[in-house]
Parts: sequence; structure tokens; C-alpha cells
Amino acid sequence: MSTSPKKSKTSIKILLGLVILLIFVCIVLAVFHETPWKVPLEDKLRKNPIPANDTNLNAAKPIYNEYCANCHGDTGKGDGSDAMMYDPAPSDLTEPKHMTHLTDGEIFYQITQGRKPMPSFRKKLTDDQRWQLVILVRSFVAPAAPTPSPTKTPEPPATKKTEPPAKNSGQSLDRPP
Ligand code: HEC
Repeated sequence: MSTSPKKSKTSIKILLGLVILLIFVCIVLAVFHETPWKVPLEDKLRKNPIPANDTNLNAAKPIYNEYCANCHGDTGKGDGSDAMMYDPAPSDLTEPKHMTHLTDGEIFYQITQGRKPMPSFRKKLTDDQRWQLVILVRSFVAPAAPTPSPTKTPEPPATKKTEPPAKNSGQSLDRPP
């Protein structure tokens, strides 16, 4: 009639194992804060309606300095004056491995929604201002990227040259002793 003591022992072991696993997962998540932002696909695929030019980049700078720099730092490194106060710490927006994987739409969504402790900027900033910030955030990742000049210099016509066989290959090797 009664369940065998062996059986209940194994189920307790399994339960204990699961609890330990759960605690472990919580610790890992707490230490690394690597819970990815859940951005709806629709938002992820949104394109920046604003051209990425100097005008928009410069327009974003004062907005960034006013609303973002205290946390993310002047150059986006996540080292703003208030950064120490927050947990998780403000993201390093210059980190290429992570940042180059984000779409414009995702960054726009992140700025719009925020995530604790980062506030939402949906009401504080207009759509255009947030898209301008996306351009600025992008510039943090690749600060050395050359901005395409408005006056296009015509590229030299691509000359198709078949390379002559290397003359000096094996020169010294083929020489008889
Ligand atoms: C109160 C401090 C604070 C302010 C102000 C703030 N952020 Fe953040 N930001 C954070 C924190 C903290 C995170 C990380 C949140 C997380 O991962 O859960 C974050 C994350 C981000 C991310 C996501 C990067 C990633 O890791 O995927 C972007 C983009 C971003 N912030 C841009 C901005 C911009 C632009 C502004 C200004 C409009 C701004 N933030 C203002 C604290 C702040």
C-alpha cells in the first residue's frame, strides 16, 4: 500500500537537485545581469527614419549630456558621475561585441522603454530626439568611423588587371649549386 521508501528518496533527491539548480541560475543572473532585453520583433526591425548625418549627431549631443551622461558617461563608457549608485550598472555603450549586435530599432526601444534603473524616455523626449540619440549611441561604438563626405569624389574606374606571374618566385631556389 505505501510508496516504497526508495522511490520517495529519489524524488526528494531530484527536487533538491532542482532547487540547487534554481539557486545557481539566480546567482549567475544576479552576478552577470545578462538578462537580454526583450524587444518585440516589430520594434527590433524598425529603421531609423532620420539620416545619420552630422546635423543629427550634433543635435543629439546636448540631449545626451542632459539626460544620459550622468549615468552612461560623456563618452558612453558607462562611467558617469552617478553610475556608482546603480545596480545593474549603466551599460558601456562603446562595447563593440554587444552593441554591434543591436539594431537601431532595439536601441530606440531601449531608450523609449528604459529598464530599471534606467528611466523611460518616452515622455521626456520626442521620437525624433530618441532616434537622434540612436545615431549618437552608434557613434560611441565606432568613433573612428569615417563620415561619408557630402561631396562624392568619383571613384577611379576599377581596372581589371590580371597579375603577371611572380617573376622572382623560386629564383634562388632553382639556381643550380
Ligand atoms: C539612471 C541612470 C541612467 C540614465 C539616466 C540613462 N541610462 Fe541607459 N542604462 C542604464 C542602465 C542601468 C542600463 C542597463 C539596464 C539593464 O541592462 O537592465 C542602461 C541601458 C541602456 C542601453 C542598453 C544597452 C544594452 O546593454 O543593451 C542603452 C542603449 C541606453 N541605456 C541608452 C541610454 C540613453 C540614450 C540615455 C539618455 C536618454 C540613457 N540611457 C539614460 C542607466 C541609465
